[in-house]
Amino acid sequence: MAQAPVADIFAGKYSVGQQVTVKGWVRTRRDSKAGLSFIALHDGSCFDPIQVIALNTLNNYTDIQRLTTSCSIIATGVLKESQGQGQSLEIEASEVEVVGWVENPDTYPMAPKRHSLEYLREHAHLRPRTNVIGAVTRVRNCLSQAIHRFFHENGYCWVSTPILTASDTEGAGEMFRVSTLDMMNVPTTEQGQVDFSQDFFGKETFLTVSGQLNGETYATAMSKIYTFGPTFRAENSNTSRHLAEFWMIEPEVAFADLSDIAQLSEDLLKYVFKAVLAERADDMAFFAQRINKEAISRLEKVIEQDFVRMDYTDAIEILQNCGKKFEFPVSWGVDLSSEHERYLAEEHVGAPIIMQNYPKDIKAFYMRINDDNKTVAAMDVLAPGIGEIIGGSQREERLDVFDRRLAEMGLNQEDYSWYRDLRRYGTVPHSGFGLGFERLVAYVTGMQNVRDVIAFPRTPGNANY
Ligand code: 4AD
Repeated sequence: MAQAPVADIFAGKYSVGQQVTVKGWVRTRRDSKAGLSFIALHDGSCFDPIQVIALNTLNNYTDIQRLTTSCSIIATGVLKESQGQGQSLEIEASEVEVVGWVENPDTYPMAPKRHSLEYLREHAHLRPRTNVIGAVTRVRNCLSQAIHRFFHENGYCWVSTPILTASDTEGAGEMFRVSTLDMMNVPTTEQGQVDFSQDFFGKETFLTVSGQLNGETYATAMSKIYTFGPTFRAENSNTSRHLAEFWMIEPEVAFADLSDIAQLSEDLLKYVFKAVLAERADDMAFFAQRINKEAISRLEKVIEQDFVRMDYTDAIEILQNCGKKFEFPVSWGVDLSSEHERYLAEEHVGAPIIMQNYPKDIKAFYMRINDDNKTVAAMDVLAPGIGEIIGGSQREERLDVFDRRLAEMGLNQEDYSWYRDLRRYGTVPHSGFGLGFERLVAYVTGMQNVRDVIAFPRTPGNANY
């Protein structure tokens, strides 16, 4: 018999009295004095497990009584309305096949109690079986589907930009080198430097930090594109907001300026918040109950309000006059640190902020210089509780201005020859941003650490599994 996903059963796709087969893992099991075994079975398709009732008349009832958490089973039986509290439907089993036993239940690491998130990280291969990581995984999936849907409905083309690259998009030097050179016998040039011309690609190559520059080449032909892929940063930041490998969504739009892209960021976020509230009500209820009691209400509120737009220069003034002591002092020209971002988004505004027009000296080479010649047309979206979730800008499309900026920053024109070509052949104002996917998932769920919203977190000193 075909497998009925538990989510479909709860969604009413099967009627009471119908025979169904469910396949999954035991969450808990208890026996009743009346000779029944109650098995809570989960299959990952929704938050709630379904109750399978096994009667002692089943010929393998002694096996059923030995079932412990995480044993895998296939159960077939009739769907019934449940008498149990908080449950709508249950299955009265006519057959329970044990597919896989748990070797030694006493030492099984995911015993059915509340484990700390740190403990779960140490068992990243088993943690998807827990309530919390199951819920995160479904919400993450829902968000990624909603993001693709949003762009698809709005006429964007999904472009897969390369993971192996020679460009340092952000110019921050935080790249992982990729090489096939023999580390014990590295070829060197006459000047004693590593000779990358003998490497696989004939030049020094890295894992990408952002697909943006490649994305720009397609936006200036296809008009509206986005990327959705893994990106890598070798920054030694051991914080709850940083991963060495994270996923980024990068729309890029031709004939768009900073305010267009700011509006796009607001529309995209509201769209995906609505989707998650509608499609993952079960998981969001869990997050509201266990992780952050405002997990649902704050998204509902954000959907209703306009995001606040604020200039960097005004933000500095607010921070300087707010009377709060910050660890990192505030003055015009400094990069906002997470304590500043959090103060502004959480305490000052209480909602997401679109911060705009940052000093050019703290931003990347490709951002468009404003008329004041001091700031660039950059924008970040700062969310309460997590800080920056989006970073973007209008790109410098004027070749002469771009070349001056390269020179100012000590960068080589030849290294950007194909990027300069976009400014030489039918240049056009264009803008885009990068949405950090794990920060988005953390914001939506209320999870405090991005390590708990990605399947296998990569952080300094940790590439396990
Ligand atoms: O601000 P960032 O560095 O911007 C870019 O990479 C641009 N090229 C994007 C663009 O305009 N197309 O990164 C964008 C977002 C940040 O706002 C943050 O959410 C996330 O990526 N991010 C990280 N997330 C997790 N771990 C890290 N180490 C991250 N670094 C950036």
